Amino acid sequence: MARGKAKEEGGWKKFIWNSEKKEFLGRTGGSWFKILLFYVIFYGCLAGIFIGTIQVMLLTINEFRPTYQDRVAPPGLTQIPQIQKTEISFRPQDPKTYEAYVLNIIRFLEKYKDSIQKDEMFFEDCGSVPSDFKDRGPYESGPGQRKVCRFKLEWLGNCSGINDESYGYKDGKPCVIIKLNRVLGFKPKPPKNESLESLAITKYNPYVLPVQCTGKRDEDKDKVGNVEYFGMGGYPGFPLQYYPYYGKLLQPNYLQPLLAVQFTNLTVDTEIRIECKAYGENIGYSEKDRFQGRFDVKIEVKS
Ligand SMILES: *[C@@H]1O[C@H](CO)[C@@H](O)[C@H](O)[C@H]1NC(C)=O
Ligand SMILES: *[C@@H]1O[C@H](CO)[C@@H](O)[C@H](O)[C@H]1NC(C)=O
Ligand SMILES: *[C@@H]1O[C@H](CO)[C@@H](O)[C@H](O)[C@H]1NC(C)=O
Repeated sequence: MARGKAKEEGGWKKFIWNSEKKEFLGRTGGSWFKILLFYVIFYGCLAGIFIGTIQVMLLTINEFRPTYQDRVAPPGLTQIPQIQKTEISFRPQDPKTYEAYVLNIIRFLEKYKDSIQKDEMFFEDCGSVPSDFKDRGPYESGPGQRKVCRFKLEWLGNCSGINDESYGYKDGKPCVIIKLNRVLGFKPKPPKNESLESLAITKYNPYVLPVQCTGKRDEDKDKVGNVEYFGMGGYPGFPLQYYPYYGKLLQPNYLQPLLAVQFTNLTVDTEIRIECKAYGENIGYSEKDRFQGRFDVKIEVKS
């Protein structure tokens, strides 16, 4: 029994190191070397293929202009304030009822303050009337960061907060700020002058993407009353020189052009549905899609 065990142990030791045949774990040094060499080459090739594939993938990706961005392709028109879905309901006599809307607007306009647009390295004046697109070279790092156009709050007139800190809410004339979401490389295409005749857009400019707000349903149309538009140069829309947008890396300070809309004679004590729409040949209006050139907002001014 004891002898058998010793023999077994001897067998184990012999297996680990067989001094007669000079074998380690049943293989000679040469054999181990060959097997090691095989695996080194085998895994080396696998790693090579892997790295190669990734490199080829990276070559087709442009850091500055995504190859695929269909998810955000049609730009969305959105409004500020945007709280509690898309309802604005307040009592002009009671500041508490509209405080949240005003704060929402103030917070949004914060980045449009003159003091933030001072740096000549990043900002430039692009005139105070609408003009054509501003191409700023290829979508590559080459010339470095691109400048962005300044946007002056005073263009928002009675909705700029300069003369009226309540943005019209204290007088029952609520302001809504409208912007078009940024889409890298997007150039809005305004409609032709003729196609605007059917709309009530009074001031035409070929370098403005027009926006119009009207009653959504027939019964809303006469309750909306007068609508004032405040935008660059007094035009109701977005001036083209702010496009195209070059993306977060090349234009980290980009400011979208804004349009302010003020409803100065809303019928009180009625919920009015208003639809605002940007008119462009390359803008879509699906009712379901989140990214679209229109939005609805319900407004109720309580007496
Ligand atoms: C802006 O507000 C002032 C003062 O309330 C008013 O007199 C003027 O008509 C308003 N401007 C527009 C374009 O509504
Ligand atoms: C647009 O059309 C109107 C009349 O339909 C015309 O009076 C105006 O001059 C046109 N504007 C431009 C810039 O073509
Ligand atoms: C406001 O609307 C009412 C009808 O809803 C109208 O009688 C009144 O003249 C309008 N006021 C102004 C200043 O347009």
